[in-house]
Amino acid sequence: MPLRGTHILVGVTGGIAAYKVGYFVRELVRAGAQVRVVMTEAAARFVTPLTFSSLSKHPVAMDLWASDQASGARLTARHIDLATWADLLVIAPASANTIAKIAHGRSDNLLTVVTLACPRPVILAPAMDADMYLNSATQRNLALLQERGYHIMPPATGDLASGLKGPGRLPEVEQLMAFVERIIAGAQQDLKRLRLLVTAGPTYEAIDPVRFIGNRSSGKMGFAIANAAAQRGATVTLVAGPTHLETPRNVRRIDVESTEEMKRAVLKEARRATAVIMAAAVADYRPVRPAPQKIKKRKGEVPALTLRQTPDILATLGKQKRGKVLVGFALETENGRAHAREKLVEKNLDLIVLNSLATHPGVFGSDTNRVTFIGRRGNAEELPELPKFDVANRLLDRVHTLLKRR
Ligand code: C5P
Repeated sequence: MPLRGTHILVGVTGGIAAYKVGYFVRELVRAGAQVRVVMTEAAARFVTPLTFSSLSKHPVAMDLWASDQASGARLTARHIDLATWADLLVIAPASANTIAKIAHGRSDNLLTVVTLACPRPVILAPAMDADMYLNSATQRNLALLQERGYHIMPPATGDLASGLKGPGRLPEVEQLMAFVERIIAGAQQDLKRLRLLVTAGPTYEAIDPVRFIGNRSSGKMGFAIANAAAQRGATVTLVAGPTHLETPRNVRRIDVESTEEMKRAVLKEARRATAVIMAAAVADYRPVRPAPQKIKKRKGEVPALTLRQTPDILATLGKQKRGKVLVGFALETENGRAHAREKLVEKNLDLIVLNSLATHPGVFGSDTNRVTFIGRRGNAEELPELPKFDVANRLLDRVHTLLKRR
């Protein structure tokens, strides 16, 4: 019974699928969870608060301005109470309107205020007409929230109340329950003592003020690690190269551009860290002398670039470990395991994560990854293709075990 004793806050917004959420609340209660429900006004047009108070066995909260009936005093911190009470907030159905408000930090009713104040994992289960769901505004808002670390449960495809067919149905109760169990399991506060430094994204080395040398890296893997660790209670600093990703919730972010800048930030921040995960795709070479002005294109001329190696940040950390757990990544196109093992030894790491382009050619920018962990004794653990968030949690489990042995 993974949900026994957990505090689940359910947010219901206005959509016909609200009726299904009654069954979901009943299932949560059956699974032993304590359930509170917050409804928007629009939700109450579809299902009455009485339905949810009967099923959850608690009064339903709707009004930001309601007063405490027992004492008559205004509960000024009502939203904070609810936000901190919850181990998990599930918004189902999540309407396009509520999704848009949360994505932009608006807080004009009790549910959006609670969401903004909630430090714990939040699941959104969008359910609406297919055209509204597929509208690029809704899609963009969902992508934004996903990057920030909100969990989006994709809607099912099928017949919709509007008469259309397409994506937009609230998933069945069993699927909602399975999703909730997975997120709760990944959100135990087991990393409270971990002070984690993560790097992510590429680094850019200037050729001139306009052009650069860089790597194909979206930063998604490193951001997923930062996000997963923060959800498990770790104190997380993320040193990020140039990416377009949103900062995950509860993560402190430092932006850098070149390897030299990344090195400076990492060496400074590493002093306080108990573990460092270098997921960044650091450029290996940089132009010796970047041109101060844009290099002019002249007919028939091809400029020669003289390159030099960038400093190896991870190897530098490996020389001054002082009890830290050090994790590196290796992206190989051939002989992956052998090369990864060599790097682990050379850089004095505790664990290396091997990304093989041969087994997962689409890794760049993808939301999934297929990796192999290689430990100090040369032992390899090959994972199946998983969402990067799940890969992150498996990696954090390994880091946690290594730290416990210290
Ligand atoms: O040697 P290679 O670049 O393949 O090693 C990859 C690992 O080393 C990654 O974890 C990467 O973040 C890190 N690295 C580094 N400094 C560099 C190059 C790579 O810290 N200059």
